[in-house]
Amino acid sequence: MENLISLAKRRGFIFPGSDIYGGLANTWDYGPYGVELKNNLKRLWWKTFIQDREDMYGVDAGILMNPRVWEASGHVAGFNDAMIDCKKCKTRHRADHLIEEATGKNTEGKTIKEMDEIIKKNKIKCPKCGVQNFTKTRKFNLLFKTFIGPVEEEADTVFLRGETAQGIFVNFKNVLDSMHPKLPFGIGQIGKSFRNEITPGNFIFRTLEFEQLEIEYFINPKKWETEFTNWQKAMDRWIKNLGIDKKNVRVREHDKKELAHYSKKTIDFEYKFPFGWKELYGLAYRGDFDLSAHQKASAKSLEYFDLDGGKKFIPHVIEPSFGLDRTVLVILLDAYKEENVKGETRVVLKLDKKIAPVKVAILPLAKKEGLDKLAKAITDDLKESMTAMYDESGSIGKRYRRQDEIGTPYCLTVDFDSLTDKSVTVRDRDTMKQKRIKIEELKKYLEENL
Ligand code: GAP
Repeated sequence: MENLISLAKRRGFIFPGSDIYGGLANTWDYGPYGVELKNNLKRLWWKTFIQDREDMYGVDAGILMNPRVWEASGHVAGFNDAMIDCKKCKTRHRADHLIEEATGKNTEGKTIKEMDEIIKKNKIKCPKCGVQNFTKTRKFNLLFKTFIGPVEEEADTVFLRGETAQGIFVNFKNVLDSMHPKLPFGIGQIGKSFRNEITPGNFIFRTLEFEQLEIEYFINPKKWETEFTNWQKAMDRWIKNLGIDKKNVRVREHDKKELAHYSKKTIDFEYKFPFGWKELYGLAYRGDFDLSAHQKASAKSLEYFDLDGGKKFIPHVIEPSFGLDRTVLVILLDAYKEENVKGETRVVLKLDKKIAPVKVAILPLAKKEGLDKLAKAITDDLKESMTAMYDESGSIGKRYRRQDEIGTPYCLTVDFDSLTDKSVTVRDRDTMKQKRIKIEELKKYLEENL
């Protein structure tokens, strides 16, 4: 993890947030290659799950919503974590995490009283100072509060959204009335969510501000099991398509006590992170919890009229939920390799070519005698169809290493022969094999191989 965090900073993927001010804990900024990677993932997700399907619609709802949304959804009352403080060293912890780490057991569904008893019974100590002297466990709401207007009054309180899902539910009627879809159909959204997490950490795994890619798929309740299985398969295909090693992914079903307040069945796609098996994505059957709650609170009908059955009902929902930052983390962890090449360590990101931030780097052997001019002309030409980067600084060896570290699938070297044979040397990132290709055939070669 440390090697990856260091590479991410050194090579312009991810920087600590507000870096020149000493940072702000658990906030991270994406740099030039990080944002390219993230955008590639967003584009691929949007194409896979929205554009390429006939049954899907996209929305882009606001981060700020009427606070009644969060009351109706159950987040104001129920979106809590259990926190505990060490009286000796004053550090704050999540009680469920302390228990999980010490006993290996999941605490979902346990009351805070039960958690206190487990901590006492198992003589769990503070991971920071090693002393067993905790406050009582307390509940802590994860929604971030802010105020509209200059006066910080309770009446003007709004929340930064804690999940993108609610922006979809509140637009269900708008999509129904404007697009007239037939069940089953889904609405998808990509956007930021905010959670006042008590103990975030592990780089971009758990942060205060993060991006979600969520789908609410509206169904007839009679078909929920088939639809759930279909979405599990679709999520499996997505993970495979990202090139993630399937050895590192497993599916875990939540037991009854662990289920979130809205869910009738949930599975987590877990990844084997360096800090253990943890949730990458979730797939939940939310029943009609959300639409019913919003119908009641807003007094607007959210029923669907089924032409075939001639009946009105509130559709049920299957929710595939993807975290973008966790996807980036998993992709980087999975792609990061250290290889021994002739006694030296080569660090390489073996990213799937589809999502690599730079597809091809063009390297003139020298900055003179027309090589740079030819290399720049090739770059401009390739830029029309892919992210191409011109790089002239340092030795060729150094430039290859730099491109390996950012996961560029191909490097093209423009040498003195290129001026006469109108060809360049193409180096493959993974095999490091090189071959000579005619400049006029480059575009075709790259498009076929990327
Ligand atoms: N709408 C359902 C929902 O929000 P969740 O399991 O709380 O469910 C879905 O979140 C996904 O969002 C997670 O699987 C994870 O990928 C991502 N996620 C959740 N909290 C996060 C955090 N604090 N930092 C980064 N990603 C997070």
